[in-house]
Amino acid sequence: MSLIALPTPAELSITPRDRRFGRDAATPRLWHGGRVEATAIYNALSTTFPKGEAFFVESVRAFRDGAPPKLAEEIKGFTTQEAIHSREHDAFNKRAAEAGYNLSKLEAQVEKRLAVTRGKPPVVSLAATMALEHFTAILAHQLLANPRHLEGADRETADLWRWHAVEEIEHKGVAYDTWLHATRTWTRWKRWKLKTRVMLYVTRNFVVDRTGGALELMRQDGVTGLRAWAKLLWYLWIEPGMFRKIAGAWVRYFLPGFHPWDVDDRHLLAAYSSRARDGEPKRKVRRSV
Ligand SMILES: [Fe+2]
Ligand SMILES: [Fe+2]
Repeated sequence: MSLIALPTPAELSITPRDRRFGRDAATPRLWHGGRVEATAIYNALSTTFPKGEAFFVESVRAFRDGAPPKLAEEIKGFTTQEAIHSREHDAFNKRAAEAGYNLSKLEAQVEKRLAVTRGKPPVVSLAATMALEHFTAILAHQLLANPRHLEGADRETADLWRWHAVEEIEHKGVAYDTWLHATRTWTRWKRWKLKTRVMLYVTRNFVVDRTGGALELMRQDGVTGLRAWAKLLWYLWIEPGMFRKIAGAWVRYFLPGFHPWDVDDRHLLAAYSSRARDGEPKRKVRRSV
């Protein structure tokens, strides 16, 4: 397959926005509107980012040799963005620890999953990265498209999540394009089989681990048992229902000929940029899309 035919918009520029969040004041323990379950699921997600995104970078970089110049340029933008995300989520996780959470169980679970994947061939790591990048892109889309998800959240922390979401959308095609390049001699069937198997595996782990991680953090807030399950499942699947709302976009991944840019959500990037121009803090936003 020729890379020229890929649907990643030709004029898309992947622009790292080197911003820092939450350095001036402590983050409230229940930063998400005082809600235990909302704070828990975002904190559980954040715990995966420093190690997880370093793994994404390593997986994509393993295939950058021989990449066409446009893709090589996109890989550069992607790795810089992910490195800055890791730094900011590491800082965020430290603030969660300062607020009293013990994240060690969640971190150990991330390590365990990464160790299994690292024991497989590099192309499987790339497929896992591509699957998780699809997850982050559809979560990011939902987060930016529907203000309900961050309603009532601490302003600075909500800003961190929106900033991360924008860059996840911006670079959502990079791991996928790297994969198409790396497997260009494969049949479509062989490619589809591996990407499907890996996506199903990653999805199971993602849902089980994030749910388990959030329940662990809720336990640390004194919410346990049936009450914890009910609150968390309601939040994730009913209202605002992030997991339910991304289900359709998740299914698209399995369609023959799928590409992340089949859904063009650059309007969300433009809305973020104009919001940044019109009143959000303007610190270090180097360039808008
Ligand atoms: Fe990221
Ligand atoms: Fe990413």
